[in-house]
Amino acid sequence: MVQNKNGKAKMKVLGIESSCDETAVAIVTDTKEILANLIFSQVDEHALYGGVVPEVAARSHMKHITALTKQAMLDANITDFSELDAVAVTAGPGLIGGVMVGAMMAKAIAAVHGLPIYAINHLEGHALMARMSNDVAFPYLLLLASGGHSQIIIVHDIGQYTCLGTTKDDAMGECFDKTAKLIGLGYPGGVMVEKMAAKCSDIDTAIKEFILPKPMLGRDNCDFSFSGLKTAVRRQVEIKQIENMSDEEKSMLCASFQHSVNLVVKDRLKNAIIQFRKIFPNMDSPSLVVSGGVAANKTLRQGLKEVATEHDFQFTAPPIELCTDNGVMIAWAGMERLLAKKPADKLDFAVVPRWPLESVV
Ligand code: KG4
Ligand code: ZN
Repeated sequence: MVQNKNGKAKMKVLGIESSCDETAVAIVTDTKEILANLIFSQVDEHALYGGVVPEVAARSHMKHITALTKQAMLDANITDFSELDAVAVTAGPGLIGGVMVGAMMAKAIAAVHGLPIYAINHLEGHALMARMSNDVAFPYLLLLASGGHSQIIIVHDIGQYTCLGTTKDDAMGECFDKTAKLIGLGYPGGVMVEKMAAKCSDIDTAIKEFILPKPMLGRDNCDFSFSGLKTAVRRQVEIKQIENMSDEEKSMLCASFQHSVNLVVKDRLKNAIIQFRKIFPNMDSPSLVVSGGVAANKTLRQGLKEVATEHDFQFTAPPIELCTDNGVMIAWAGMERLLAKKPADKLDFAVVPRWPLESVV
C-alpha cells in the first residue's frame, strides 16, 4: 500500500482518457505523485489519412484500453482495484465513439469494485493540470489551446470557470494542423510546424517574404479567429507552388505563421490580463497558465512568458508531456473533485460530444 510521510495511506485515483487519438490511463495520489502514466498514441494509424478518423480511433481505443489499464495497475503496484479511492474518466467533449470506450471501462471498474466514479470534462482536465504539476492556487488566468479549443478562462475554483474569450472559427491547434497539411508536413501538424519553423535562421526576412495576417490584433476583446490565417497560408502555398518550395522556404513560412499566432496570442492575453485585474485588483503576482496540446509550443510559451512578466503575472506551464492529452490530467481532475468532497457521478452518466467548460459544476 502506498503511504505518505505520516504512514497514512495515500488516496489514489485512476484516470482514463480516450476522447481523441490517445488512449491514456494514469494513477495519481492526493500528494501529487504519478504512480502510473501510460499513453498509447494512435498517430501511425491516423497518419495514413492525414488526420484523426473517428471510427479508427474508437476501434483502437477498444483494442488497447484493457492492456493499458492492467499495466497502469502493475506500474502503480496496486494489486486490486478496490485499493483505489475513485475512478475518473473523460465523459466529453470529444469524438464520441472513443469517449464511450473509456467511459464503459471506467463504469465497469467502478461497478464491480464499488468505487466512486467522476465523469470529467476533458477541458477541466487541461485546466486543472497546472495545480498538480506546479501547485498553482485559485484563481488564475488560463489559456487553453488544443486541437478543438482556444479559450481564455478565469479558473475561480473546481467547477467555476469564466470564459473571457474564445475562437470565432478554427481552434489554434486545428490551424497548426491545417497549416502543416497545406505545407505537406503531415500529421500531427503542430509539432511538425514547430520543428520546421525552428530551421528558419532569419525571422525578419521570413515575415517579409511570407506576409501573413494577425487576426483580431488590436481588437477590444479576448476572442480569436484563425480561419483567415489558414486561408492566407493556403494562398502563399498556391503562389509559391508547393512542389517548387524549398525546405528553406517552408521553414520561413512556418516561422512567419508561428510569429503571427504568437503576436495574436500575446495581444489577446494582454486584454484578458486587464479584465482579470479588474476582477481581482489586489492579487499579488497571479498566475497565467497555458495548457492543452498547443501549450507544448516553445515559441508560444516564450511569448506568454513575456506578457506575464510585463504585467507582473507568474507564467506557468505544465511539463510538455502533461500539456498534450494524457491520463494524469483526468485522474487529477477526479482527485480534485474527491478532495473537494464533490459528489461522485451516477453510474448511468451520459457521454457528450460537446460540453462547454463554463457549464461544468
Ligand atoms: O490537447 P491536445 O493533445 O488534444 C486536444 O484536446 O485537442 O491538443 C492537440 C493539438 C493538435 O492540434 C496539435 O497539432 C497541437 O495540439 N500541438 C501543437 C504542438 N504539439 C501539439 N501545436 C503547436 N506546437 C506544438 N509543439
Ligand atoms: Zn486535449
